[in-house]
Amino acid sequence: MKRGFLIVIEGIDGAGKTTHARKLVRWLRKKGIQTRYTFEPTRGAIGRILEKMASKRKVDVRVEALLFAADRIDHLNKIIRPLLEKGFIIISDRYVHSSIAYQSITVGDQRWVEELNKFAEKPDLVILLDVDPEIGLGRIKRKRARFERVEILKKVREKYLELAEREGFKVIDANRGVEEVFEDVRSLVEKFLEEKKALQQ
Ligand code: TMP
Repeated sequence: MKRGFLIVIEGIDGAGKTTHARKLVRWLRKKGIQTRYTFEPTRGAIGRILEKMASKRKVDVRVEALLFAADRIDHLNKIIRPLLEKGFIIISDRYVHSSIAYQSITVGDQRWVEELNKFAEKPDLVILLDVDPEIGLGRIKRKRARFERVEILKKVREKYLELAEREGFKVIDANRGVEEVFEDVRSLVEKFLEEKKALQQ
């Protein structure tokens, strides 16, 4: 069986990752492609600890970085690898670059964060939804979580853009309306899959 592909949607809070990841899944399924939506932090045992920590004011950021990395290994073992082996296209709403972007800011040691995450296999395609933090935060209607503050998100955004440059992610301007942004997401993925000959016309 042909291995599937891991496509990751990244970006700061309020960039529209979940909306676009879900739209992408629907579009791919309509094309008859086996596709699965997944996300980090997961709802597994470690993900649930992270969820509890998210609302706390005082958190040891190194413990948090370790937990995000541990949750990712769980995600890889339980969801990502088995589905890739079955030939699925996986659309992941956040993955390893979320840790590199957020935890290198909170912990202040990017190399350590990268080392912790060295077991995470490389995604096949990373799409960065780039949004101005003020616009992103304006889209969040629920109570804000710990990282959802302009000063932090500005730094995280810069880190994402730096990573995009270093690793060649596709960057999409997500300050625009949903349909306009999705048109770019869809066309990027279509091009990627055509290159990989995974799309039947
Ligand atoms: P979510 O809003 O996409 O569910 O993510 C929850 C928060 O967790 C979000 O503010 C970003 C943060 N996060 C990290 O700091 N590091 C990570 O590795 C992941 C996956 C998420």
